[in-house]
Amino acid sequence: MAMKPLTIQKTVLLTACLILFSVSTIPTNKAASKPMQPVFIFGDSTVDVGTNNHLKNCTARANHPYYGIDYLQSKPTGRFSNGQNAADTIVTLLGGYKHSPPPFLALLKNSSSFTGKILHGVNFASGGCGLDKETGKDPYGVVVSLEEQIQQFATVKGNITAILGESNGQLLLQGSMYIMSIGSNDIMSYIFTHPVTPELFIANLTATYAIHLKNLYSLGARKFGVISVPPIGCCPIARSFSPVGDCAKEPNDLAIAFYTPLESLLKNLSSTLEGFKYSLGNAYNMTMNIIEKPIGFKDVKTACCGNHTQQGISDCKKGGYVCPNRDEYLFWDAYHPSQAAVKLAARELVFGEDPKFVTPINFSTLKRA
Ligand SMILES: *[C@@H]1O[C@H](CO)[C@@H](O)[C@H](O)[C@H]1NC(C)=O
Ligand SMILES: *[C@@H]1O[C@H](CO)[C@@H](O)[C@H](O)[C@H]1NC(C)=O
Ligand SMILES: *[C@@H]1O[C@H](CO)[C@@H](O)[C@H](O)[C@H]1NC(C)=O
Ligand SMILES: *[C@@H]1O[C@H](CO)[C@@H](O)[C@H](O)[C@H]1NC(C)=O
Ligand SMILES: *[C@@H]1O[C@H](CO)[C@@H](O)[C@H](O)[C@H]1NC(C)=O
Ligand SMILES: *[C@@H]1O[C@H](CO)[C@@H](O)[C@H](O)[C@H]1NC(C)=O
Ligand SMILES: *[C@@H]1O[C@H](CO)[C@@H](O)[C@H](O)[C@H]1NC(C)=O
Ligand SMILES: *[C@@H]1O[C@H](CO)[C@@H](O)[C@H](O)[C@H]1NC(C)=O
Repeated sequence: MAMKPLTIQKTVLLTACLILFSVSTIPTNKAASKPMQPVFIFGDSTVDVGTNNHLKNCTARANHPYYGIDYLQSKPTGRFSNGQNAADTIVTLLGGYKHSPPPFLALLKNSSSFTGKILHGVNFASGGCGLDKETGKDPYGVVVSLEEQIQQFATVKGNITAILGESNGQLLLQGSMYIMSIGSNDIMSYIFTHPVTPELFIANLTATYAIHLKNLYSLGARKFGVISVPPIGCCPIARSFSPVGDCAKEPNDLAIAFYTPLESLLKNLSSTLEGFKYSLGNAYNMTMNIIEKPIGFKDVKTACCGNHTQQGISDCKKGGYVCPNRDEYLFWDAYHPSQAAVKLAARELVFGEDPKFVTPINFSTLKRA
């Protein structure tokens, strides 16, 4: 991938790398020779790489088999996947990474490597959370809301400026990518309670997203790679409520209804906030495209891990069912896509040309912007 490093970025990089060399090892050799553009990741279980393992009372965890069965050493890491998740596949294609940067809460555990590692990006995502700070707390006990994730990023920003100085720190943060994948849990939570009309709910969700994006912008973020809500009504758990396994209409309708205002919001922010750039991935269309034309997938309806019974689907756990041909399944468990599916999606997000799937530019163009 061609990059056009600015002289300024080179300076930042040099300073940053020196510090990396002195404090910690560089995770990938690619990263050592390339201008550093760290990636910061925010969101829910679609991009969580182990945050929830560090939360005492959180029940939304993927720290047990068969999660991670296709990951390095077949180890469960907290990823809600058989292997890599969307955070991993996207940063790998963007370049400079073999997998997502580690969770903020994992980095906090080791203060001697913390400063070196944050210069390489941080993943704040927490499974079960949402745009609304209450989302996920009821079903899962404790999750890290997007608001808290952004507060954690503010800490990281402080730590980065302490290392690089105010202006180089600022430049590093402005050159970085900010990947956001969130909203599904807010919609699920709305469906259980219906506190307001769907119109008011979507308007509230959009206004909440606006606040978060503006806060990140104020902290120095400029390049936003946003992933919309997928057709959550088509995941195996939602299909299990239909006698014939059809997609559930309400969650899908809300996912579609949220896309247009989100796009409009991003457009508005890019025209009102100087330097605000974005790429919006349409997870709804990408997933529906696979469901309708399942090239390469034998099963786009059932979960690879967990037994489908009359009552629904049992959890993905050791002793339960796990399919042998995991790359042929769109869904890994009752809620989450397989590694094979997110690899396809990442390809589309990073290099795609079709505005049905990614607009107005793709993630690789955003990275170079
Ligand atoms: C975790 O749960 C225990 C018992 O329910 C409770 O006493 C404790 O305050 C909770 N901790 C947090 C951080 O919520
Ligand atoms: C903390 O990081 C340092 C420096 O990278 C490393 O040598 C040490 O083993 C780490 N400690 C733990 C407990 O992981
Ligand atoms: C990072 O910043 C926080 C908040 O200012 C501070 O408490 C913490 O000690 C810093 N961490 C390091 C390793 O400097
Ligand atoms: C969205 O609704 C919640 C709950 O009613 C409310 O607390 C919050 O202030 C609203 N957010 C916005 C941005 O309007
Ligand atoms: C974007 O701006 C247009 C024109 O000012 C406005 O009508 C629309 O409501 C805005 N959309 C959002 C989501 O803020
Ligand atoms: C893609 O998404 C947009 C926005 O939700 C929608 O209008 C359009 O019909 C979708 N196209 C396909 C092919 O799914
Ligand atoms: C799950 O299904 C498999 C194959 O259909 C069966 O062999 C296994 O006993 C089931 N496990 C549980 C826990 O129901
Ligand atoms: C998407 O990415 C590819 C590869 O970087 C690039 O050639 C192409 O022009 C991009 N398309 C858009 C619409 O940004």
